[in-house]
Amino acid sequence: MKFLVTGGAGFIGSHLVAHLLPHGSVTILDNFVSGKRDNLAGVSCNLIEGSILDSHLLAQSLIGVTHVFHLAAMVSVPESVAHPAECHQMNVEGTRRVLHAATQARAARFVLASSCAVYGNDPVMPKTESLPPAPASPYAESKLAGERLCAESALPAVALRFFNVYGPRQDPRGPYAAAVPRFLESALAGSPLTIHGDGRQTRDFVYVDDITAALIHAAFQTELQGVYNVASGQSTSILELAQTIRSIAHSSSPITHTPARPADVRFSSASIERLRATGWQPRFPLSQGLSLLLQAK
Ligand SMILES: NC(=O)c1ccc[n+]([C@@H]2O[C@H](COP(=O)([O-])OP(=O)(O)OC[C@H]3O[C@@H](n4cnc5c(N)ncnc54)[C@H](O)[C@@H]3O)[C@@H](O)[C@H]2O)c1
Repeated sequence: MKFLVTGGAGFIGSHLVAHLLPHGSVTILDNFVSGKRDNLAGVSCNLIEGSILDSHLLAQSLIGVTHVFHLAAMVSVPESVAHPAECHQMNVEGTRRVLHAATQARAARFVLASSCAVYGNDPVMPKTESLPPAPASPYAESKLAGERLCAESALPAVALRFFNVYGPRQDPRGPYAAAVPRFLESALAGSPLTIHGDGRQTRDFVYVDDITAALIHAAFQTELQGVYNVASGQSTSILELAQTIRSIAHSSSPITHTPARPADVRFSSASIERLRATGWQPRFPLSQGLSLLLQAK
């Protein structure tokens, strides 16, 4: 088997590449806008540097490829609010081009990294795949559009709606950093853990190895089609998360608050029954995943 991972130098992509190598050869197409060479240290793969928007590079990346994992994207909700046209270009037009090129190259299967953001602020919980989408940001709109492109494609394609992924190699810095790496970095440095808003907003935090297992499962189990949530099935408030990280890191850092961010979803709780029924299940509860993350530091 031969795999293409777009965005393979990123946080999730680099974990996926490591788990794919025992099954076949891997090509990565990444422009390093947020990915890092260090993420691929010691990994033996065919690395093509460039954008998914470049049709020539796409065709080159897809020669002989059987399975495509499309992870490259503008990944931040606040960034998409600030730059909606760029988000559309990257996430919608980019996905259209990768799907088209994969179809031309006669790949067997396509797996898209989608997001729980497509559910938006609809108060119905837990989120099941049959709920009507309610995207509340350009990022969420773009992921939903990507799912629709998959559904319309001639290529067998599956979209996985990741909830809040965490694990080693996730960037703790920058204006759009996710809560887990940011809190852990602050806890270890003894500096304040800063929460956007009151901290009562909830998320489902899922360990990166559960995500890579779901991606590989979706590629290999040909009966899967359509959209599937990938999460731990446990909802946690941001305040609880900050307190748990402080305790695991044996830190006495204070917890502080700043104003809530625009377009942030208030509550998020996932149903994972649809994917579980096909044979995948999460293996890492939050406390175990956070301990593994701390050990990897
Ligand atoms: N991390 C999460 O919690 C989460 C949640 C839901 C969905 N997702 C989705 O999972 C995927 C991976 O996210 P991540 O957290 O690993 O982010 P990441 O930023 O670490 O990875 C994205 C990768 O895509 C690359 N990339 C971006 N634009 C590109 C382009 N035009 N051409 C080629 N490569 C490009 C980046 O350099 C980077 O290596 C994304 O599609 C994201 O939307 C992530």
